[in-house]
Amino acid sequence: MSINRLYVGTNKRSPVPMYYQIMEEIRNKIYSGDYVVGSALAPERELAELYDVSRNTVRQAITELVNEGILIRRQGIGTFVAPPKFEHVLNRLTSFTEDMAQRNMTAGSQTISFEVREPTLVESSSLNIRQSDQVIECVRLRSADGVPMALETTVLVASLCPGLGADDLSDHSSLYTILAERWNIRIDRATQSVEPTLATPYEAELLHVQPEIPMLLMRRIAFDQSGRAAEVTKSIYRGDRYKFVIELRQHA
Ligand code: GLP
Repeated sequence: MSINRLYVGTNKRSPVPMYYQIMEEIRNKIYSGDYVVGSALAPERELAELYDVSRNTVRQAITELVNEGILIRRQGIGTFVAPPKFEHVLNRLTSFTEDMAQRNMTAGSQTISFEVREPTLVESSSLNIRQSDQVIECVRLRSADGVPMALETTVLVASLCPGLGADDLSDHSSLYTILAERWNIRIDRATQSVEPTLATPYEAELLHVQPEIPMLLMRRIAFDQSGRAAEVTKSIYRGDRYKFVIELRQHA
């Protein structure tokens, strides 16, 4: 992108720090289409000159935008405009596979671990089962068109889906579809929370991101058509690729 296309809207006399104003400038340039996805940002030196600030100030603005997932830094090559984040609408109860299909993308699933065990106290109370009952714990790496997007740890009530195996859940298979087709368990309602977290080294490696970048931690307890709790899932979504959107109405 050419440096002379920049319109400088920062104000050195403002109480808002310059790095923060520069962040806003760059964000606006991206939203308005002046900076297109995939294009390289001008070198730090040029931006520092343009905004009449130190290179450190420019670097700080860029680092913050990289952490937000708006820019991508490629070591030794430069900084580029990232593709827009996935907007995940939280008003509807959908599966990962459905979310991807709505974006015309193919959902992928790689089973990292699969075990049958007794539930923890929290799981037995969330799933409304006894501590002596069995649960299936499955950790899956979920991808969109082959790009890793989320790491999901799902705990299911074993007696509801007898015979479910690790192989059933790999490649492009959908847990919700399998539950419905094989055991007539239709996920009908769920409670879900979303909170921020930082990528652990393990999550970072699997999801191909830097450790400690912001991530979105989603917890879902899902119930079937007869009100039985069927699933407890903890999902770690890439904070650099996802934003959650909720529609609000004043009168329900
Ligand atoms: C989402 C939910 C999970 C659920 C999964 C099922 O990702 N956060 O709680 O287990 O969808 O997706 P699929 O049917 O594609 O396996």
